[in-house]
Amino acid sequence: MDIIQAKDYTEMSKLAADLLVKHINNTKSPILGLATGSTPIGLYKELVKRYKQSEISFKHVTTFNLDEYVGISRSNPNSYHYFMNDNLWKHIDIDLANVNIPDGMADNLEKECIEYEERIANQPIDIQILGIGLNGHIGFNEPGTSFDSRTHIVELDESTREANSRFFDSLDEVPKQAITMGIETIMKAKKVILLVSGKAKATTLAKLISNEEVTPDFPASVLRKHKDVTIIADEEAREKIKL
Ligand code: GLP
Repeated sequence: MDIIQAKDYTEMSKLAADLLVKHINNTKSPILGLATGSTPIGLYKELVKRYKQSEISFKHVTTFNLDEYVGISRSNPNSYHYFMNDNLWKHIDIDLANVNIPDGMADNLEKECIEYEERIANQPIDIQILGIGLNGHIGFNEPGTSFDSRTHIVELDESTREANSRFFDSLDEVPKQAITMGIETIMKAKKVILLVSGKAKATTLAKLISNEEVTPDFPASVLRKHKDVTIIADEEAREKIKL
């Protein structure tokens, strides 16, 4: 795993945007895996800026999002669909027919998971953007998730619901389930870019790059087995590691 040392959140976002802009501009039909959470917001802002400066076009870009809550509609501001539209899609020239995000309102959630996985298998992801949860979750793959998992329905950890409750009016409103790409799905991406920012993630990052075992108890540890992972971490997130 390579680590790019960013000074702060702004620089982390710009460095990630540089990598994506370069890839998009050098690839005929780029396929990106996207993430939600607060971490990639700066990256999306930067991509919108570069689009507005005509450095980049998303016309031929396809995207797959990592995850979506179950039971909240696309028009709900807390849905990841709404988040993506608000932070990225509505500002750029992407063809909405090429954006993919699991449907957490599907009548048949199992079928939705299978079909989502098939779509990714047919259009393999070039670069997957990831954030990381405090407990090491990636996407919504909580500790204990099998490394051979594909897109599936998850019961969210109470700690994850609490962490994400800051976006909702109350903890009660945070969904208890989500659909997420599995660990195997994520590992199939040709390249992974993991963004880590802020003091709160320092222990998590230290654990990730330690030589501890690769274990489903800390899902992100699986990334040590991936051939092409770039971590972009800011100073605060690197507080507990020596490079
Ligand atoms: C959520 C998302 C993850 C994200 C994590 C961390 O649980 N499903 O994809 O990485 O939160 O979020 P944040 O970036 O806000 O710390």
